[in-house]
Amino acid sequence: MADPVSSRAAAVAADAADPLAFARARFALPPDVVYLDGNSLGALPANVPAAVADAVERQWGRDLISSWNSNGWWQLPAHVGDRIGALVGAAPGQVICGDSTSVQLFQALTALARIGTGRRTIITDGANFPTDQYLAESVARILGLRLVRVAPPDLAGVLDADTAVVSFSAVDYRTGERWDAPAITAAVHDAGALMLWDLCHVAGALPFDLDGLAADAAVGCTYKYLNGGPGSPAWLYLPTRLQPSADLPLTGWHGHADPFALEQQYVPATGIARGRIGTPALLSMLALDAALDVWDGVDLAAVRAKSLALSDLVIGYADANLAAFGVEVVTRREHERRGSQAALRMPHAYEVTQALVARGVVGDFRAPDLLRLGLAPLYLSFADVWTAMETLRDVLATEAYRDPAFARGMDATVT
Ligand SMILES: Cc1ncc(COP(=O)(O)O)c(C=O)c1O
Repeated sequence: MADPVSSRAAAVAADAADPLAFARARFALPPDVVYLDGNSLGALPANVPAAVADAVERQWGRDLISSWNSNGWWQLPAHVGDRIGALVGAAPGQVICGDSTSVQLFQALTALARIGTGRRTIITDGANFPTDQYLAESVARILGLRLVRVAPPDLAGVLDADTAVVSFSAVDYRTGERWDAPAITAAVHDAGALMLWDLCHVAGALPFDLDGLAADAAVGCTYKYLNGGPGSPAWLYLPTRLQPSADLPLTGWHGHADPFALEQQYVPATGIARGRIGTPALLSMLALDAALDVWDGVDLAAVRAKSLALSDLVIGYADANLAAFGVEVVTRREHERRGSQAALRMPHAYEVTQALVARGVVGDFRAPDLLRLGLAPLYLSFADVWTAMETLRDVLATEAYRDPAFARGMDATVT
């Protein structure tokens, strides 16, 4: 393992040796911004504006309704699903794109809970993203099950013969901590239960092996590290072995075995097509399809290696230069326990985040006291991250964050 980057000169040298440096030109980023919020909204791929213009002007404007066939609109959810699947270790035919992560959580949780007949407990993470917890509550209520919240690594004593489904995020959205997905999945399976992974903070950020783990379902968004744009459609992974028995609750006509027969009664399509619901948000999905081109020729192992080197830089810099200002590194120090973001706990974290944004360093704040720095290896350089850390030190050393303009409630921008 290379030494962490610990000077601007070392950052410049790391950039010169970066096998992913070519990918930055695939994005249209403002020149005066260091963008560390790709774990919330990914940057704009340079080819997307033209793809959206084509979708609107040619496909919609000229080809009109024929686009369902001539421009591949009908096949798009499965086509984009397969492209996402390739980034999360899913063989073709197991991922469908559409709707929101929240909707897909409802689909997946309900379907898995219905498979676990007789078992009456759903387990989720009490620190999971709120929507994951809210949907688990709702599914438990609808199906008359019990919901148990735990801390993810600590399933011992909780998993039992009553557990139907365990639903975790593979990377914690606040701290960036990565859980041991193989060990957790294996423990869940040993207990005879089913495992659902939320990969919002994984897809496009680090490799994952859904098929290799024999995960029972997964969901994820596409507007973070997959750069699909604001509100871009989510995805559902349902492995081939479970597709025939999956009783998905949202039985829209696009998931029907013969949608254009317009029958009265629902008969699910075979394969992942049963994961379709209704008419998809085509413009968003076409933008996402174009955005996925940034992955052409990209080695996910190189993405992971660069992501870890970037978080090593943040951690090393914080240890050496920021501890005196009360900054605590929350991100785990073991590589295998890290996702692709760094989280720093500090006093006045909200105000510091705003002061950084004012200087062109865009991270985000998570209550009560965390500054999150998303590390998207395709468009961030080591020099960018070095600049961000030096800016942070200056904001702390000069107490620039005390400017009333950065106080809570003074701006309407939610990051
Ligand atoms: C782990 C996780 N799940 C779900 C979501 C969001 O769900 P939705 O796409 O339905 O808004 C987020 C958003 O940040 C998230 O971090």
